[in-house]
Amino acid sequence: MPSNEKLHRAKKQKNDEFYTQYADIEKEMNAYIEYNPDVFRDKTILLPCDDPEWSNFTKYFAQNFERFGIKKLISTSYAANSKPKEIPYQPTLFETESPNFDKKKTRSHGKIFILERDTNKDKKIDINDLEWNYLKGDGDFRSKEVTKLRDEADIIITNPPFSLFIDFFTWILKANKKFAVIANKSCVTYKEVFPLIMKNKAWSGREEWAGGMWFSTTDNATDFDKIVDNKKYKNTPSMWITNIDHGRRHQPIPLMTMDENRRYSKHIKHPYWKDAYKKYENYEVIEIPFTDSIPNDYSDTMGVPISFLDKHCPEQFRIIGMAEDNGRGYSGAESKWDGKDPHCIIDGKKKFKRLFIKRKESSNENNS
Ligand SMILES: C[S@@+](CC[C@H](N)C(=O)[O-])C[C@H]1O[C@@H](n2cnc3c(N)ncnc32)[C@H](O)[C@@H]1O
Repeated sequence: MPSNEKLHRAKKQKNDEFYTQYADIEKEMNAYIEYNPDVFRDKTILLPCDDPEWSNFTKYFAQNFERFGIKKLISTSYAANSKPKEIPYQPTLFETESPNFDKKKTRSHGKIFILERDTNKDKKIDINDLEWNYLKGDGDFRSKEVTKLRDEADIIITNPPFSLFIDFFTWILKANKKFAVIANKSCVTYKEVFPLIMKNKAWSGREEWAGGMWFSTTDNATDFDKIVDNKKYKNTPSMWITNIDHGRRHQPIPLMTMDENRRYSKHIKHPYWKDAYKKYENYEVIEIPFTDSIPNDYSDTMGVPISFLDKHCPEQFRIIGMAEDNGRGYSGAESKWDGKDPHCIIDGKKKFKRLFIKRKESSNENNS
């Protein structure tokens, strides 16, 4: 089943129970730490829409609490009764054996987990010092109490419910915080996201887009792509979207000239190659079918697939707009759209989801 269709189905059923793998969190956060070792120092980090007893975000940050110099870690979870009824409910021993356990609240209330001090007096702050309690409500990120936590935080990190991504992203933006969240790749063309990408106020995280991301899902899930060690996993076309800087985005893409590409590109036999460098019929923009075929000697507007964003270096290219089929009003004056069909068209055929970019004259890319 094509991955977009899979995501669409997940959205329709509101199945949001996809758990991020530890290695994916670690790889992404390592990129931020490598670029700025103090990125989390003295910061309050909020992990909303989490389930610390099952998910890896809290585990990862609790394990690295001292190393990163974090001031306070807060995670919140969503009540079982507020999730679709097919989602299995199973309180952990961590909850049931705690003096805070409340039979009346366990299904109907969200939980809050806080790490900020050495509660067990073993001279270190780690996962064993997590304190928890029930929230007043169900832990909905839109609730007043979770919104208050958002306002207290410096950085918000999570894999939010896919079905509520736009609400969630807008909720973060209102507070003007640093963030790193997992999203469907096509979010980059949403009207809530694209303007930020264009203005360099949000960008793709470190993790490559190719191959999508694998999430573990619930034991009773019927929609999954593989089983490993009796655990079900689903692959979705996901990415990290963030406003935390990392080194990859400052590495220019190594490029060749248009002539060199015509002779040596590895894509020459690919069916999409036949349209390379042709001008669209309805935009003053040339078609670039693959990111690594962007010529380094063309200074006008180029139409690239959205996957360009996982290689984009803002010192090398300027994003000037996107084709009108992604959302009206974003193609920008430099693309000179003729105002008719919103798709980029070549030989009567439509190209989908093209972003428009221009080389920065001052860029110092590698020409080899
Ligand atoms: C994609 S899962 C990710 C879970 C965890 N953050 C992780 O990455 O492993 C999203 C979680 O958000 C929860 N959720 C759904 N709607 C929510 C809402 N309105 N407010 C808070 N959490 C919600 C879902 O039940 C699910 O557990």
